[in-house]
Amino acid sequence: MNLKSYLDHHIFKTISKVADEKGLETYVIGGYVRDLILHRASKDIDVVTVGSGIELAKEVAKQYGPRVKVSVFKNFGTAMIKINDCEVEFVGARKESYQRTSRKPIVENGTLEDDQKRRDFTINALALSLNKDSFGDLVDPFGGMKDMEDLRIITPLEPGITFSDDPLRMMRAIRFATQLNFDIEENTLKAITDNASRIEIVSGERIIDEVNKIMLTSKPSIGFKLLESTGLLAIIFPELQAMKGREVRNGIGHKDNFYHTLAVLDNICEHTDNLWLRWSALLHDIGKPKTKRFHPKFGWTFHAHNHIGSKMIPNIFKKMRLPLNDKMKYVEKLVFLHMRPIILSEDIVTDSAVRRLLFDASDDIDDLMTLCEADITSKNPEKVKKYLKNFKIVREKLNELEERDAIRNFQPPVSGELIMECFQLKPSREIGTIKMAIKDAILDGEIRNDFDEAFEFMKNKGIELGLTYHEPKERKN
Ligand code: CTP
Repeated sequence: MNLKSYLDHHIFKTISKVADEKGLETYVIGGYVRDLILHRASKDIDVVTVGSGIELAKEVAKQYGPRVKVSVFKNFGTAMIKINDCEVEFVGARKESYQRTSRKPIVENGTLEDDQKRRDFTINALALSLNKDSFGDLVDPFGGMKDMEDLRIITPLEPGITFSDDPLRMMRAIRFATQLNFDIEENTLKAITDNASRIEIVSGERIIDEVNKIMLTSKPSIGFKLLESTGLLAIIFPELQAMKGREVRNGIGHKDNFYHTLAVLDNICEHTDNLWLRWSALLHDIGKPKTKRFHPKFGWTFHAHNHIGSKMIPNIFKKMRLPLNDKMKYVEKLVFLHMRPIILSEDIVTDSAVRRLLFDASDDIDDLMTLCEADITSKNPEKVKKYLKNFKIVREKLNELEERDAIRNFQPPVSGELIMECFQLKPSREIGTIKMAIKDAILDGEIRNDFDEAFEFMKNKGIELGLTYHEPKERKN
């Protein structure tokens, strides 16, 4: 099969010319070829040559003049050049063998097929020739093209060998199955289950990279179900594993929170590409296993699971090598608040409750509403209709609130300094009490978020607390 027409990027013509001049058998290989065939955009090009990848890279860079630099990674025997927004990595074909006595592989120069054999899956082992006489010819010794047609993930060698070479490949298999909507071949899948515990030798950074790639697909539940059924989830993410299961007592059961969570995650993926909003969906009920109780009269309860859940997040983020910055704070906040709009929509929605929600969620209010809408997974269409209708009312009220932006970015209209001056106070608890009372009065709609109204309110509140009022030098913050 010839796929010349796919190789229209000028880089391939340049590599071809140099490879022929140098007499080097050279191919484009791996994920780039897979993605070309699947019509997926890809900017990472891997080139393999039977010889020195570093020398080839240097010669190719020369063709583009001094603006194109080569980065050489001597230890790995690879070199990289950047052409516009493409990164092209060059490597010499290698053969790797493992000795029983050592985990360290012996790496030697090899043929193209030796190199293809070392790769993770047949669909990632496809190579297209770049030499002039065979330009575009597909080299596919393991039937990767057929697997591509059959939508199958399968290792080129016996899967136990491929996975023991790099146990991260077990996660990669699941990630590709999720991203491409392919099936993992039976033996390959079994080998993942058999070798799951070997994931422990892989660094957390590499693991989370794969988890995030699963999170960014259009249906991450596929990946999480596979992680769970193979035993990987229990090792890499025990808190999520703990959500699985449905207990029945006195004939009363609760829903399986693992599958519910995955349904919420899939739902939210239809509405957002924001990775951290997706993480909020994955973690929104993470506090449920810890808060689960059975009450003979009320059945199953998960009191304060939002609170406990949000408190679990820093630990989970740290363990899983997720960022410990504002992204984490954002997830904590959404997990903490995820019940609020639901509670709102169960009752009559008052302006005051909507103002308070807006105050607490501030700029993340729209994301919080998206999370809550995704959280409706009831099979009862009447219930779903009711919830969605009430959320619509909450959203409308949020939009109607004239002072929406002032509440979103709430700044106390009367400063602590001014309160101290008016009542001749030193820093003390009373100041906090008065400030809080002003905030509550605004959120409850008693007064407007306006200096003059808040000042009058403060004056009366202080007097009510038994303080003596003194006219300040200036009625201004
Ligand atoms: N590869 C492998 N085993 C790994 C990682 C990579 O065999 N653990 C090989 C595969 O042939 C893969 C190629 O190296 O196609 C390039 O790897 P990488 O860029 O990490 O992945 P891609 O397959 O290109 O996929 P993506 O860019 O989506 O990560």
